[in-house]
Amino acid sequence: MDYERPTLGGHPGPAGLDSHPGAVDNHSDSWSPMTAPSAHSSSVTAGRIRLAYDEALGPVLSAGNAFPCRSRVAYGDWLAQTYHYVFHTSRLIALAASRCDAHHDAFHRRLVEYLGEEKDHDLLLLDDLAALGYSLDEFPEDPLTAAFWQVDYYRVEHQTPLALFGRSLLLEGAAAERGSLMAEVVADAHGEKAASFLRVHGEEDPGHVERAFATLEGVEEAEATVIAAALTQSGVLYRGMLDNIRRRAGH
Ligand SMILES: [Fe+2]
Repeated sequence: MDYERPTLGGHPGPAGLDSHPGAVDNHSDSWSPMTAPSAHSSSVTAGRIRLAYDEALGPVLSAGNAFPCRSRVAYGDWLAQTYHYVFHTSRLIALAASRCDAHHDAFHRRLVEYLGEEKDHDLLLLDDLAALGYSLDEFPEDPLTAAFWQVDYYRVEHQTPLALFGRSLLLEGAAAERGSLMAEVVADAHGEKAASFLRVHGEEDPGHVERAFATLEGVEEAEATVIAAALTQSGVLYRGMLDNIRRRAGH
């Protein structure tokens, strides 16, 4: 695989690299997860994340069920939009891992592992697009796709690096529930070579979800609030992205 990396402008790059590696909020005097008292037990805060996960995942799975993945243009657009945000996944994980201080060492170690697990997944999407007969520049980035990854840079930089678990839980939960099924449908409609991204995630992500929840058992209340909000917002943005793809494809 030898691709010329497309230019995906718009992100100014990580700021404040010389700042404290933990969560920082430069814009509020009321939010500081590193010092916030934890009013609930860790299992209660983890339960809040589980609730947000269930509430966000259900509508995303329904939208996925209705998605016309047998349509070549709709599936091609989905691959391209997925590439546009997956391009940022390894960058966001590396950024979040760098922001975890000693108090968050378990999260740092999980994020470093996660970085390895996501290696080259962006290239799978370009392979699948090529197998479908498309190139990336045939599908410009949707504004909601851009919002989907842009908000995570804000959360990691200005709220807490643990915020990244919101988006990853939603996507890995969806892949665990539907990835293998969607891979079968896509392989039947477009050929196995066009289904590698879905195939990999349908096989690998079920284990990732429970590992993420196990890591989050020790999360503090203020951090759980951000992760739950990230889950909810990610679900809304992802469903909007699917709606826009369907509209463009005429479905
Ligand atoms: Fe991945």
